[in-house]
Amino acid sequence: MPTDALALRTQALKASPTLAITAKAKKLRAEGHNVLSLAAGEPDFNTPEPICEAAVKAMTDGLTKYTPSAGLPSLREAVSEKLARENGIRVPPEGVVVTCGAKHAVFGSLMALIDPGDEVIVFAPYWMTYLDQIVLAGGFPVIVEAKPQDGFAPSVQAFEQAITPRTKAVILNFPCNPTGAAVTREWLGQAAAIAARHDLWVLSDEIYEKLVYDGYEPVSVASLSEETASRTITINGCSKTYAMTGWRIGYLAAPTRVAQAVSNLQDQVTSNATSIAQAAAVAALLLPAHIVESMRAEFEIRRDLMVGLVRDVPGMSCTLPQGAFYVLANVKQLLTPAIDDDCRLATWLLEKAQVATVPGSVFGAPGTLRLSFACSQEQIRDAMARIREALCNLPH
Ligand SMILES: Cc1ncc(COP(=O)(O)O)c(C=O)c1O
Repeated sequence: MPTDALALRTQALKASPTLAITAKAKKLRAEGHNVLSLAAGEPDFNTPEPICEAAVKAMTDGLTKYTPSAGLPSLREAVSEKLARENGIRVPPEGVVVTCGAKHAVFGSLMALIDPGDEVIVFAPYWMTYLDQIVLAGGFPVIVEAKPQDGFAPSVQAFEQAITPRTKAVILNFPCNPTGAAVTREWLGQAAAIAARHDLWVLSDEIYEKLVYDGYEPVSVASLSEETASRTITINGCSKTYAMTGWRIGYLAAPTRVAQAVSNLQDQVTSNATSIAQAAAVAALLLPAHIVESMRAEFEIRRDLMVGLVRDVPGMSCTLPQGAFYVLANVKQLLTPAIDDDCRLATWLLEKAQVATVPGSVFGAPGTLRLSFACSQEQIRDAMARIREALCNLPH
Protein backbone atom coordinates (compact mmCIF):
# COMPACT_ATOMS: atom_id res chain seq x y z
CA MET A 1 0.00 0.00 0.00
CA PRO A 2 1.38 3.46 -0.84
CA THR A 3 2.48 5.22 2.38
CA ASP A 4 0.37 8.31 1.71
CA ALA A 5 -2.74 6.31 0.79
CA LEU A 6 -5.10 8.02 3.20
CA ALA A 7 -6.56 11.43 2.43
CA LEU A 8 -5.69 14.25 4.83
CA ARG A 9 -9.35 14.56 5.75
CA THR A 10 -9.42 11.10 7.32
CA GLN A 11 -5.92 11.39 8.77
CA ALA A 12 -7.19 14.34 10.80
CA LEU A 13 -10.00 12.24 12.32
CA LYS A 14 -9.16 10.76 15.71
CA ALA A 15 -10.70 7.52 16.95
CA SER A 16 -13.53 8.43 19.30
CA PRO A 17 -12.45 8.14 22.98
CA THR A 18 -16.07 7.34 23.85
CA LEU A 19 -15.97 4.33 21.57
CA ALA A 20 -12.58 3.36 23.03
CA ILE A 21 -13.94 3.30 26.58
CA THR A 22 -17.09 1.48 25.43
CA ALA A 23 -14.88 -1.12 23.67
CA LYS A 24 -12.80 -1.57 26.82
CA ALA A 25 -15.98 -1.99 28.91
CA LYS A 26 -17.25 -4.60 26.43
CA LYS A 27 -13.95 -6.48 26.59
CA LEU A 28 -14.06 -6.55 30.40
CA ARG A 29 -17.65 -7.81 30.25
CA ALA A 30 -16.68 -10.52 27.75
CA GLU A 31 -13.97 -11.61 30.21
CA GLY A 32 -16.71 -12.15 32.79
CA HIS A 33 -16.48 -8.86 34.75
CA ASN A 34 -19.70 -7.26 35.96
CA VAL A 35 -19.19 -3.84 34.36
CA LEU A 36 -21.86 -1.17 34.88
CA SER A 37 -22.13 1.52 32.24
CA LEU A 38 -22.84 5.21 32.82
CA ALA A 39 -21.55 5.90 29.31
CA ALA A 40 -24.74 5.33 27.29
CA GLY A 41 -25.77 7.94 24.74
CA GLU A 42 -29.14 6.35 24.09
CA PRO A 43 -32.38 5.64 25.95
CA ASP A 44 -32.56 2.15 27.46
CA PHE A 45 -36.30 1.85 26.65
CA ASN A 46 -37.62 -0.23 23.76
CA THR A 47 -39.06 1.61 20.78
CA PRO A 48 -42.81 2.03 21.55
CA GLU A 49 -45.06 -0.65 20.04
CA PRO A 50 -47.13 1.54 17.61
CA ILE A 51 -43.87 2.60 15.92
CA CYS A 52 -42.73 -1.01 15.50
CA GLU A 53 -46.18 -1.95 14.17
CA ALA A 54 -45.97 0.81 11.54
CA ALA A 55 -42.61 -0.61 10.40
CA VAL A 56 -44.04 -4.13 10.07
CA LYS A 57 -46.98 -2.77 8.09
CA ALA A 58 -44.60 -0.85 5.79
CA MET A 59 -42.71 -4.06 5.06
CA THR A 60 -45.78 -6.17 4.39
CA ASP A 61 -47.27 -3.36 2.26
CA GLY A 62 -44.13 -3.42 0.10
CA LEU A 63 -42.73 -0.03 1.13
CA THR A 64 -39.28 -1.48 0.51
CA LYS A 65 -38.09 0.52 -2.49
CA TYR A 66 -36.17 3.78 -2.88
CA THR A 67 -37.97 6.86 -1.66
CA PRO A 68 -37.08 10.42 -2.76
CA SER A 69 -33.64 11.32 -1.30
CA ALA A 70 -35.19 14.05 0.84
CA GLY A 71 -37.67 11.58 2.33
CA LEU A 72 -41.16 10.15 1.92
CA PRO A 73 -43.63 12.95 1.10
CA SER A 74 -45.81 11.73 4.00
CA LEU A 75 -42.92 12.08 6.47
CA ARG A 76 -41.82 15.49 5.19
CA GLU A 77 -45.43 16.58 5.58
CA ALA A 78 -45.61 15.09 9.10
CA VAL A 79 -42.39 16.91 10.11
CA SER A 80 -43.67 20.19 8.66
CA GLU A 81 -46.91 19.78 10.68
CA LYS A 82 -45.01 18.80 13.85
CA LEU A 83 -42.82 21.89 13.61
CA ALA A 84 -45.84 24.17 13.14
CA ARG A 85 -47.84 22.49 15.92
CA GLU A 86 -45.16 22.04 18.57
CA ASN A 87 -42.35 24.46 17.74
CA GLY A 88 -44.07 27.43 16.07
CA ILE A 89 -41.86 27.01 13.00
CA ARG A 90 -43.47 27.48 9.59
CA VAL A 91 -41.59 25.39 7.02
CA PRO A 92 -43.29 23.81 4.02
CA PRO A 93 -42.54 20.11 3.32
CA GLU A 94 -40.06 21.28 0.62
CA GLY A 95 -37.98 22.83 3.41
CA VAL A 96 -37.69 19.48 5.22
CA VAL A 97 -35.02 16.85 4.51
CA VAL A 98 -35.14 13.42 6.16
CA THR A 99 -31.67 12.12 7.02
CA CYS A 100 -29.97 9.00 8.38
CA GLY A 101 -30.09 10.24 11.98
CA ALA A 102 -29.66 13.78 13.31
CA LYS A 103 -25.88 13.37 13.02
CA HIS A 104 -26.31 13.12 9.25
CA ALA A 105 -28.54 16.21 9.30
CA VAL A 106 -25.76 18.22 11.00
CA PHE A 107 -23.27 16.91 8.43
CA GLY A 108 -25.53 17.73 5.46
CA SER A 109 -26.06 21.26 6.80
CA LEU A 110 -22.34 21.89 7.29
CA MET A 111 -21.48 20.46 3.87
CA ALA A 112 -24.12 22.69 2.28
CA LEU A 113 -22.99 25.88 4.06
CA ILE A 114 -19.28 25.75 4.91
CA ASP A 115 -16.48 26.62 2.50
CA PRO A 116 -12.82 25.88 3.22
CA GLY A 117 -11.53 28.40 5.75
CA ASP A 118 -14.93 29.35 7.15
CA GLU A 119 -15.19 29.52 10.92
CA VAL A 120 -18.04 27.96 12.88
CA ILE A 121 -18.68 28.90 16.51
CA VAL A 122 -19.33 26.03 18.91
CA PHE A 123 -20.03 26.39 22.63
CA ALA A 124 -18.05 24.17 25.00
CA PRO A 125 -18.83 21.74 26.55
CA TYR A 126 -19.92 20.41 23.14
CA TRP A 127 -20.99 17.23 21.41
CA MET A 128 -17.62 16.31 19.88
CA THR A 129 -19.10 15.31 16.51
CA TYR A 130 -19.59 19.00 15.66
CA LEU A 131 -15.84 19.64 15.64
CA ASP A 132 -14.95 16.71 13.42
CA GLN A 133 -17.77 17.47 11.00
CA ILE A 134 -16.76 21.14 10.73
CA VAL A 135 -13.20 20.06 9.91
CA LEU A 136 -14.49 17.51 7.37
CA ALA A 137 -16.40 20.32 5.67
CA GLY A 138 -13.13 22.30 5.46
CA GLY A 139 -14.01 24.76 8.22
CA PHE A 140 -12.44 25.77 11.54
CA PRO A 141 -14.29 25.29 14.82
CA VAL A 142 -14.01 28.32 17.12
CA ILE A 143 -14.76 27.37 20.70
CA VAL A 144 -16.57 29.65 23.15
CA GLU A 145 -16.62 28.29 26.68
CA ALA A 146 -19.78 28.15 28.77
CA LYS A 147 -19.17 28.23 32.51
CA PRO A 148 -20.63 25.97 35.21
CA GLN A 149 -21.32 29.03 37.41
CA ASP A 150 -23.70 30.25 34.65
CA GLY A 151 -25.40 26.84 34.54
CA PHE A 152 -23.45 26.29 31.28
CA ALA A 153 -25.51 28.94 29.45
CA PRO A 154 -22.90 30.58 27.21
CA SER A 155 -22.21 34.30 27.50
CA VAL A 156 -23.71 36.15 24.52
CA GLN A 157 -20.94 38.76 24.83
CA ALA A 158 -18.28 36.03 24.52
CA PHE A 159 -20.19 34.70 21.50
CA GLU A 160 -20.15 38.09 19.78
CA GLN A 161 -16.47 38.67 20.62
CA ALA A 162 -15.53 35.37 18.94
CA ILE A 163 -16.99 36.47 15.59
CA THR A 164 -14.50 37.37 12.85
CA PRO A 165 -15.01 38.25 9.17
CA ARG A 166 -14.59 34.51 8.45
CA THR A 167 -17.36 33.37 10.78
CA LYS A 168 -20.09 31.67 8.78
CA ALA A 169 -22.25 29.90 11.35
CA VAL A 170 -22.93 29.12 14.99
CA ILE A 171 -24.15 25.81 16.38
CA LEU A 172 -26.70 25.81 19.20
CA ASN A 173 -27.52 22.65 21.14
CA PHE A 174 -30.04 23.13 23.91
CA PRO A 175 -30.75 21.02 25.90
CA CYS A 176 -27.05 20.27 25.60
CA ASN A 177 -25.07 17.07 25.39
CA PRO A 178 -23.08 16.77 27.73
CA THR A 179 -24.27 19.39 30.28
CA GLY A 180 -28.06 19.16 30.01
CA ALA A 181 -28.06 22.98 29.99
CA ALA A 182 -30.95 24.81 28.40
CA VAL A 183 -31.30 28.53 27.68
CA THR A 184 -34.09 31.07 28.05
CA ARG A 185 -36.13 32.65 25.25
CA GLU A 186 -34.30 35.93 26.07
CA TRP A 187 -30.91 34.27 25.58
CA LEU A 188 -32.04 32.89 22.22
CA GLY A 189 -33.35 36.32 21.21
CA GLN A 190 -29.99 37.91 21.99
CA ALA A 191 -28.08 35.17 20.15
CA ALA A 192 -30.41 35.52 17.14
CA ALA A 193 -29.85 39.31 17.09
CA ILE A 194 -26.06 38.74 17.08
CA ALA A 195 -26.42 36.21 14.24
CA ALA A 196 -28.45 38.77 12.28
CA ARG A 197 -25.96 41.59 12.97
CA HIS A 198 -23.07 39.50 11.66
CA ASP A 199 -25.04 37.63 8.98
CA LEU A 200 -24.43 34.14 10.38
CA TRP A 201 -26.22 30.87 9.78
CA VAL A 202 -27.65 29.28 12.92
CA LEU A 203 -27.65 25.48 13.22
CA SER A 204 -29.99 24.55 16.06
CA ASP A 205 -29.69 20.92 17.17
CA GLU A 206 -32.87 20.29 19.15
CA ILE A 207 -32.58 16.51 19.47
CA TYR A 208 -33.21 16.57 23.27
CA GLU A 209 -36.19 18.98 23.14
CA LYS A 210 -38.66 16.51 24.71
CA LEU A 211 -36.38 15.27 27.47
CA VAL A 212 -36.70 18.32 29.71
CA TYR A 213 -37.28 18.70 33.45
CA ASP A 214 -38.80 20.94 36.12
CA GLY A 215 -41.44 22.12 33.64
CA TYR A 216 -38.86 23.70 31.33
CA GLU A 217 -40.49 24.68 28.03
CA PRO A 218 -38.11 24.41 25.10
CA VAL A 219 -38.05 27.24 22.55
CA SER A 220 -36.99 26.77 18.93
CA VAL A 221 -34.83 29.66 17.78
CA ALA A 222 -36.43 29.55 14.31
CA SER A 223 -39.79 30.41 15.88
CA LEU A 224 -38.56 33.80 17.14
CA SER A 225 -39.06 35.74 13.90
CA GLU A 226 -39.19 35.31 10.14
CA GLU A 227 -35.76 36.92 9.91
CA THR A 228 -34.30 34.35 12.33
CA ALA A 229 -36.05 31.50 10.50
CA SER A 230 -34.47 32.67 7.23
CA ARG A 231 -30.97 32.00 8.63
CA THR A 232 -31.72 28.93 10.79
CA ILE A 233 -31.48 25.21 10.13
CA THR A 234 -33.43 23.31 12.77
CA ILE A 235 -32.15 19.80 13.37
CA ASN A 236 -34.05 17.08 15.18
CA GLY A 237 -34.89 13.39 14.87
CA CYS A 238 -36.48 10.32 16.39
CA SER A 239 -33.46 8.81 18.17
CA LYS A 240 -33.74 10.20 21.68
CA THR A 241 -37.43 11.13 22.03
CA TYR A 242 -38.81 7.84 20.76
CA ALA A 243 -35.95 5.49 21.76
CA MET A 244 -35.15 4.91 18.08
CA THR A 245 -31.35 5.30 17.92
CA GLY A 246 -30.91 2.23 15.72
CA TRP A 247 -33.56 3.25 13.19
CA ARG A 248 -31.46 6.17 11.98
CA ILE A 249 -34.08 8.82 11.30
CA GLY A 250 -33.26 12.49 11.70
CA TYR A 251 -34.41 15.57 9.84
CA LEU A 252 -33.65 19.19 9.21
CA ALA A 253 -35.92 22.11 8.42
CA ALA A 254 -34.40 25.05 6.56
CA PRO A 255 -35.02 27.73 3.97
CA THR A 256 -35.97 25.81 0.81
CA ARG A 257 -32.74 26.52 -1.11
CA VAL A 258 -30.67 25.08 1.76
CA ALA A 259 -32.93 22.02 1.99
CA GLN A 260 -32.59 21.57 -1.77
CA ALA A 261 -28.78 21.73 -1.52
CA VAL A 262 -28.75 19.10 1.26
CA SER A 263 -31.12 16.94 -0.76
CA ASN A 264 -28.84 17.23 -3.84
CA LEU A 265 -25.93 16.15 -1.66
CA GLN A 266 -27.89 13.15 -0.32
CA ASP A 267 -28.74 12.19 -3.93
CA GLN A 268 -25.03 11.47 -4.42
CA VAL A 269 -24.12 10.08 -1.01
CA THR A 270 -26.75 8.08 0.87
CA SER A 271 -29.92 8.54 -1.20
CA ASN A 272 -32.88 8.12 1.14
CA ALA A 273 -32.96 7.04 4.77
CA THR A 274 -34.42 3.51 5.14
CA SER A 275 -37.97 3.45 3.74
CA ILE A 276 -39.33 1.24 6.54
CA ALA A 277 -37.81 3.43 9.25
CA GLN A 278 -39.34 6.49 7.58
CA ALA A 279 -42.81 4.92 7.77
CA ALA A 280 -42.13 4.18 11.45
CA ALA A 281 -41.08 7.82 11.96
CA VAL A 282 -44.48 9.02 10.68
CA ALA A 283 -46.06 6.90 13.42
CA ALA A 284 -43.56 8.27 15.95
CA LEU A 285 -44.50 11.87 15.19
CA LEU A 286 -48.16 10.98 15.77
CA LEU A 287 -47.53 8.93 18.93
CA PRO A 288 -49.93 9.66 21.82
CA ALA A 289 -48.14 12.17 24.05
CA HIS A 290 -48.49 10.04 27.21
CA ILE A 291 -46.03 7.44 25.84
CA VAL A 292 -43.20 9.98 25.49
CA GLU A 293 -44.26 11.56 28.79
CA SER A 294 -43.85 8.28 30.67
CA MET A 295 -40.24 7.97 29.42
CA ARG A 296 -39.53 11.65 30.20
CA ALA A 297 -40.95 11.33 33.72
CA GLU A 298 -38.75 8.29 34.40
CA PHE A 299 -35.70 10.24 33.16
CA GLU A 300 -36.58 13.07 35.56
CA ILE A 301 -36.67 10.66 38.53
CA ARG A 302 -33.30 9.23 37.44
CA ARG A 303 -31.83 12.72 37.03
CA ASP A 304 -32.79 13.63 40.59
CA LEU A 305 -31.33 10.35 41.84
CA MET A 306 -28.07 10.78 39.92
CA VAL A 307 -27.60 14.44 40.89
CA GLY A 308 -28.17 13.58 44.56
CA LEU A 309 -25.66 10.73 44.45
CA VAL A 310 -23.03 12.80 42.61
CA ARG A 311 -23.33 15.64 45.15
CA ASP A 312 -22.94 13.06 47.93
CA VAL A 313 -19.50 11.98 46.72
CA PRO A 314 -16.85 14.04 48.53
CA GLY A 315 -14.98 16.14 45.94
CA MET A 316 -17.60 15.74 43.17
CA SER A 317 -20.09 18.43 42.16
CA CYS A 318 -22.48 19.12 39.29
CA THR A 319 -25.00 21.58 37.95
CA LEU A 320 -28.64 20.50 37.68
CA PRO A 321 -29.31 19.38 34.08
CA GLN A 322 -32.51 20.90 32.65
CA GLY A 323 -32.68 18.36 29.86
CA ALA A 324 -31.07 15.39 28.04
CA PHE A 325 -29.87 12.39 30.11
CA TYR A 326 -26.40 13.32 31.28
CA VAL A 327 -24.82 14.80 34.39
CA LEU A 328 -21.46 16.48 33.84
CA ALA A 329 -19.68 15.88 37.15
CA ASN A 330 -16.80 18.14 38.14
CA VAL A 331 -14.00 15.90 39.44
CA LYS A 332 -11.14 18.43 39.57
CA GLN A 333 -10.89 18.18 43.38
CA LEU A 334 -10.44 14.42 43.15
CA LEU A 335 -7.43 14.45 40.84
CA THR A 336 -4.07 13.43 42.32
CA PRO A 337 -0.50 13.38 40.96
CA ALA A 338 -1.04 9.69 40.04
CA ILE A 339 -4.48 10.15 38.47
CA ASP A 340 -4.08 13.66 37.20
CA ASP A 341 -6.74 14.04 34.51
CA ASP A 342 -10.27 12.94 33.64
CA CYS A 343 -9.12 10.38 31.04
CA ARG A 344 -6.93 8.60 33.60
CA LEU A 345 -9.72 8.79 36.17
CA ALA A 346 -12.27 7.27 33.75
CA THR A 347 -9.84 4.45 32.89
CA TRP A 348 -9.05 3.89 36.58
CA LEU A 349 -12.77 3.78 37.49
CA LEU A 350 -13.41 1.29 34.73
CA GLU A 351 -10.59 -0.96 35.94
CA LYS A 352 -11.08 -0.62 39.71
CA ALA A 353 -14.80 0.08 40.14
CA GLN A 354 -15.84 -1.54 36.87
CA VAL A 355 -17.98 1.46 35.99
CA ALA A 356 -17.78 3.01 32.51
CA THR A 357 -17.98 6.80 32.30
CA VAL A 358 -16.96 9.24 29.57
CA PRO A 359 -14.07 11.64 30.28
CA GLY A 360 -15.13 15.25 29.90
CA SER A 361 -12.07 16.13 27.78
CA VAL A 362 -13.95 14.50 24.91
CA PHE A 363 -16.49 17.33 25.18
CA GLY A 364 -13.99 20.13 25.69
CA ALA A 365 -14.55 19.97 29.47
CA PRO A 366 -11.37 18.63 31.07
CA GLY A 367 -11.66 17.79 34.76
CA THR A 368 -15.18 16.38 34.39
CA LEU A 369 -16.84 13.02 33.76
CA ARG A 370 -20.07 12.60 31.81
CA LEU A 371 -22.41 10.27 33.70
CA SER A 372 -25.42 9.07 31.74
CA PHE A 373 -28.67 8.34 33.53
CA ALA A 374 -30.11 6.44 30.56
CA CYS A 375 -30.11 3.28 32.67
CA SER A 376 -32.22 1.84 35.49
CA GLN A 377 -32.40 3.47 38.94
CA GLU A 378 -30.87 0.31 40.38
CA GLN A 379 -27.92 0.56 38.02
CA ILE A 380 -27.44 4.25 38.86
CA ARG A 381 -27.42 3.43 42.59
CA ASP A 382 -25.01 0.50 42.21
CA ALA A 383 -22.65 2.34 39.86
CA MET A 384 -22.47 5.44 42.07
CA ALA A 385 -21.93 3.31 45.18
CA ARG A 386 -19.03 1.56 43.44
CA ILE A 387 -17.52 4.91 42.36
CA ARG A 388 -17.83 6.37 45.85
CA GLU A 389 -16.20 3.35 47.43
CA ALA A 390 -13.40 3.06 44.86
CA LEU A 391 -12.50 6.75 45.23
CA CYS A 392 -11.52 6.12 48.86
CA ASN A 393 -8.52 4.24 47.47
CA LEU A 394 -7.53 6.62 44.67
CA PRO A 395 -3.72 6.45 44.39
CA HIS A 396 -1.79 9.65 45.23
C1 LIG B 1 -26.43 16.68 20.55
C2 LIG B 1 -26.67 15.49 19.69
N1 LIG B 1 -27.06 15.69 18.42
C3 LIG B 1 -27.27 14.65 17.59
C4 LIG B 1 -27.07 13.34 18.03
C5 LIG B 1 -27.22 12.22 17.05
O1 LIG B 1 -28.47 11.73 16.91
P1 LIG B 1 -28.75 10.57 15.87
O2 LIG B 1 -28.57 9.28 16.60
O3 LIG B 1 -30.17 10.79 15.46
O4 LIG B 1 -27.81 10.71 14.74
C6 LIG B 1 -26.64 13.10 19.33
C7 LIG B 1 -26.38 11.73 19.78
O5 LIG B 1 -25.71 11.46 20.75
C8 LIG B 1 -26.45 14.21 20.18
O6 LIG B 1 -26.06 14.03 21.45
